Amino acid sequence: MSEPSTTAPSSPRLDEIQREAENAFGAITDEASAETFRIAYLGKKGILRDLLKRVGAVPEDQRRAYGARVNELHRSFEDRFARAPWRTAHQAVGPAFDPGLPAFPVPQGSLHPLMKIRNAMRDIFLNMGFSVAYGPDIETDYYNFEALNMPAFHPARDMQDTFYITATHLLRTHTSPVQIRTMELERPPIRTIMPGRVYRNEEISARSYCLFHQIEGLYIDEGVSFADLKGTLLAFSRRFFDDATRLKIRPSFFPFTEPSVEIDVECFLCKGKGCGICKGSGWLEVLGAGMVHPRVLAAGDIDGERYTGFAFGIGIERIALLKFGIEDIRFFYENDVRFLRQF
Ligand code: PHE
Repeated sequence: MSEPSTTAPSSPRLDEIQREAENAFGAITDEASAETFRIAYLGKKGILRDLLKRVGAVPEDQRRAYGARVNELHRSFEDRFARAPWRTAHQAVGPAFDPGLPAFPVPQGSLHPLMKIRNAMRDIFLNMGFSVAYGPDIETDYYNFEALNMPAFHPARDMQDTFYITATHLLRTHTSPVQIRTMELERPPIRTIMPGRVYRNEEISARSYCLFHQIEGLYIDEGVSFADLKGTLLAFSRRFFDDATRLKIRPSFFPFTEPSVEIDVECFLCKGKGCGICKGSGWLEVLGAGMVHPRVLAAGDIDGERYTGFAFGIGIERIALLKFGIEDIRFFYENDVRFLRQF
């Protein structure tokens, strides 16, 4: 049979074109070479379409087979082209990736204002050589009261309205139980702060809530005196509030410290002159403290003849309210993003 090669390629010619297409497809390495292939073979004026247009020139008895073969060739290359990785990767995410475009802004969370205050306080104590310890929110009566010199029926238990879970388990009313847990694990010198959440069954209002946060501090070694307590808390206050801050130390009572004190810091807003924040007094009540009671040292199996120590408990909420100028403590727990976004 003579070969009408200029108008309709015969089967051998088709084999050749298929081989060439195969090679060209295999040589694709990127977007640009893919596009070159697409135009040359799959495009409207591409080689495979062109073959189809020439079906009329094929002898009648071969037309069917020719058409079917060219169609199949076109379909299979289109199919492989569409599924090839350089296409699917981009199709999955939409338009081609342009590394030169500015990045989308990724919405970022931020630390809760209470955690910001806690971290700032913690870092000051870490710099002074304190370590950090944590205790459980659900405590036993022993750690929350008994070991802290508040045996059953001790009137001081009424100072803190306790959420009991069972007769022996409760939500801790302060971070002081972690003092005992720390003494059980460590030997003096002990220099530890213990941040955490505490719970009290108080009436909820703008100024008090059923939970709040404290940072407990404990320092036990030979020869620790009340002067060390004063010096440590003064250094802390000057770093945290203002480097000229003064402290007012008032006698107080806690069953687990003797002597016990409450410490006021000079109002950081009016510098002691008296303002709305400190209610005209010039002072802010921020912490309870004292020398660790010998019975508490004994509960922690520490020799009270050899060692002495001080402890303190700082309330975080009050300071955060004052620092950020927030009027209602409940904002801290409602997780309203309009509030949280401001920090
Ligand atoms: N635990 C006391 C409270 O919650 C504070 C405190 C801690 C007082 C350590 C003295 C020593 O009120």
